[in-house]
Amino acid sequence: MENNENKIFSIPRIGEKAPVFKAVTTQGEINFPEDYKDSWVILFSHPADFTPVCTSEFMTFASMEEKFNQANCKLVGLSVDGLYSHIAWLRTIKEKIEYKGMKNVEVKFPLIEDITMEVAEKYGMMQPGESNTKAVRAVFFIDPKGIIRAIIYYPLSLGRNFDELYRALIAMQAADKFSIATPADWRPGDEVIVPTAGSCGVAKERMENKDEMNCYDWFFCTKNISKEDIEKELNIKG
Ligand code: BEZ
Repeated sequence: MENNENKIFSIPRIGEKAPVFKAVTTQGEINFPEDYKDSWVILFSHPADFTPVCTSEFMTFASMEEKFNQANCKLVGLSVDGLYSHIAWLRTIKEKIEYKGMKNVEVKFPLIEDITMEVAEKYGMMQPGESNTKAVRAVFFIDPKGIIRAIIYYPLSLGRNFDELYRALIAMQAADKFSIATPADWRPGDEVIVPTAGSCGVAKERMENKDEMNCYDWFFCTKNISKEDIEKELNIKG
């Protein structure tokens, strides 16, 4: 039998095409990423059904699903459990679990069954140093062109911050829309980073023109984009 410790797992990287797969989910079969053309998608893995951290995560993510959908982003979950386990767990969450004011929570987004670990291995979600039998908590942000734009990994014991996942999604969408970058801890309405000037002339012009931009130095200029403009262009509510 092959020892997972010695197996080479590939991890797709930022800027690459999202690996293609077909899978069975709690919402029927999916063809990934083909079925998600024209929208962002967050593909995420969790270690196991019927576990507490994962339950808290699913309740939180499901409660925020509409907010992600409004931002043109679909959610797709995955674990190496089977379909009937997924169905039973999601039913238990809806019927029995009340947690932090959330109750009767219905998980409407698809949850992939991956008992063969085929998808988990394709996406580098199996990390044998952490576990040979459970996927780590991976998060892949994939854009409407099917390109991986951000990847976050968490260990088994650490529940994710879903406000941060939403913040990262909106920041990437704002960067695309306005050709800017976003500084540390950015939220809509905060100043944004203007890409570094390509020539000395442009840098000098920027340093002199303080109206539109705030330049801390030649390589570090910001400008304001209002929260309203971000929300209008991205078609989101505050
Ligand atoms: C959890 O979701 O609670 C969990 C899952 C696998 C390992 C540790 C914790």
